[in-house]
Amino acid sequence: MGGNDDRLTVLVVGGGGREHALAWKLAQSPRVARVLCAPGNAGIAADATCVPVKADDLDGLLELARRERVDLTVVGPEAPLVAGLVDRFEAAGLTAFGPTAAAARLEGSKAFAKRLMARCGVPSAHAEVFEDRDAAVAFVEEQGAPIVVKADGLAAGKGVVVAQTVGQARRFIDACLVERAFGAAGTRVVIEEYLPGQEASFLAITDGVRTLPLLPAQDHKTALDNDLGPNTGGMGAYCPAVIVPPPLAERITRTVIDPVVKAMAEEGCPFRGVLYAGLMVDGDDVRVLEFNVRFGDPETEPLLFLMESDLLPVLLGAARGDLSPVIEAGGIRWKTGAAVSVVMASRGYPVSVETGKPISGLDQVGGPDVKVFHAGTAEKDGRLVTAGGRVLAVTARGNDLAAAIAQAYASVGRISWEGVHYRRDIGRKGLAALGVSGGAPAGTRKGDPRGRRPRG
Ligand code: AMP
Ligand code: GLY
Repeated sequence: MGGNDDRLTVLVVGGGGREHALAWKLAQSPRVARVLCAPGNAGIAADATCVPVKADDLDGLLELARRERVDLTVVGPEAPLVAGLVDRFEAAGLTAFGPTAAAARLEGSKAFAKRLMARCGVPSAHAEVFEDRDAAVAFVEEQGAPIVVKADGLAAGKGVVVAQTVGQARRFIDACLVERAFGAAGTRVVIEEYLPGQEASFLAITDGVRTLPLLPAQDHKTALDNDLGPNTGGMGAYCPAVIVPPPLAERITRTVIDPVVKAMAEEGCPFRGVLYAGLMVDGDDVRVLEFNVRFGDPETEPLLFLMESDLLPVLLGAARGDLSPVIEAGGIRWKTGAAVSVVMASRGYPVSVETGKPISGLDQVGGPDVKVFHAGTAEKDGRLVTAGGRVLAVTARGNDLAAAIAQAYASVGRISWEGVHYRRDIGRKGLAALGVSGGAPAGTRKGDPRGRRPRG
């Protein structure tokens, strides 16, 4: 513990908007003396000390944590978790928030996730796993389209095609199983039933036994308004998600989160960290599309902006395997209203990305209800420039969703760079569900697959 006070040194691993939100929130904890971020980015540098160690450099991170006497390491992205960062840290006597490599298979292997869900009765799309190309194609021909084909392993968000035709599904199967376009990640494919509805992100913190759900959130995954265009990492998010009202959230905790946490413990790989269920919600029908073993990006930005509680005891309790003090103290408290995060991206994202563009207008934005989290920025010759596909996550809180949206876009409108691109409809699905004008975007009606474009 740092020096003669007992406040902690925290290390956040990663360098995007999610990690900025984590670093910013942890820095506010009265129990935190110092936040380091590896590698961080130019915006994170305002809230934490950035250290140039990459998120996948496990040796470098371990050395950094030892050298700086880090008390808690919080891992943003999935790759270091799947690669065993938490196992290595624990073996070295260090505390890290996140699942072990064995538990991270929930995200790292879709086939593992499917088997586990089937075993504990968690509702998901009906699916079959194939390694043989002809058998996979025969199955698709028998089922017909629309149908969803997924590469089994991690494929950087490109490993899923929502095929509108059998031919499209066949081409993706060939890309995986014949051409090996995804290498080892695509030697098996999962073929699953197409689900109608709207997506929601349901995240819960867990210590391996106890679970503490966050507010339900909703991401906007495609690049263009009305859920059109190619899939991205996420173009904006808001919380709480209107389509998951509190009784439904409780049911999701009981029927999805708790059984999975219990089953992982029974499998001999207890899950500690944040379990993120990607859900398809169709009225009262909720099914799991996928699990992630980390915080969502951009969901984390509005979630942490709306969180009233100190984040440190939550993450530390989960990492140490005992959330009971937090639960006994009443769990996580939230500010009233809603929070929205609008991602401002570079021209060409997610296909090809222009970087190095000077960003202007950030000094025009501020106030207690707005925070600009940096996803991909750098400092060049004393100026702030773009340095990634997603550049900023402009986040605002309001007394209701409409106010939060208005507040976020008022700030977005003051920031610019050459080629800036953002969606203009973040949160509109929520307004539509509330019956507030804004209208439902195309592709969200029951049985209408138009908004879901093939990716990959
Ligand atoms: P995943 O990586 O599994 O989350 O899939 C990426 C995206 O594909 C999701 O965000 C959904 O938009 C879509 N998707 C995945 N599975 C299905 C499904 N069974 N039915 C409809 N859309 C799906
Ligand atoms: N926002 C989607 C994700 O974090 O996977």
